[in-house]
Amino acid sequence: MTNVEGGKEFGETDDTERKGTCMAESLITNLLADHQKAKALLERFDDLPMDRREEGFWDLTLTLVQHEVAEEEILYPAVRRYVDGGDDLAGGRIEEQSAAELLLAEMEHQLPNDTVFMQNFANLRDAVLEHATAEEETVFPELASAVDADELAHLGKLYEKAKASAPTRPHPHAPDTAPGKVIVGPVAAVVDRIRDAIRKVV
Ligand SMILES: [Fe+2]
Ligand SMILES: [Fe+2]
Repeated sequence: MTNVEGGKEFGETDDTERKGTCMAESLITNLLADHQKAKALLERFDDLPMDRREEGFWDLTLTLVQHEVAEEEILYPAVRRYVDGGDDLAGGRIEEQSAAELLLAEMEHQLPNDTVFMQNFANLRDAVLEHATAEEETVFPELASAVDADELAHLGKLYEKAKASAPTRPHPHAPDTAPGKVIVGPVAAVVDRIRDAIRKVV
């Protein structure tokens, strides 16, 4: 995170200031904000009382799936297009994202207070944090140095639009759930619905 606050490491050089492009508009800033949110959800999960863990699981699932699907539709096509060796870079990270989706799908069938669920949760947390670090240390800086600030800003706006289009309801049983915004498992169907919504706007 500190890398982006500092700016330079992700390619936000004097070019940015010259073009008047605000760092807050860039794709990298948006992605890192998502990473912070996901990390916070992962870190506080263990502190949730048992009767809040199902809700916490769905909140985390939607946060992760929205982020990863939006990355697959916007970040990784740009990485493949602009970065030397981008196909390999993108392919490795997307495999990790798919593995996390499979793990989430397995966990939805396990009770949140079950020891198997908690072991899987620990594995998920380790995998997601490792994946995020790999993106922050390789993918983001490589893309930021391969494209100019205007393109990063354009991709950032597209990313925000994509995420805004995705269903957001965190809990399948929430009493105030609005029609048309309900997200109900299974996880695989949630992924498909989010992907469909995002593809309609990008
Ligand atoms: Fe990712
Ligand atoms: Fe990410």
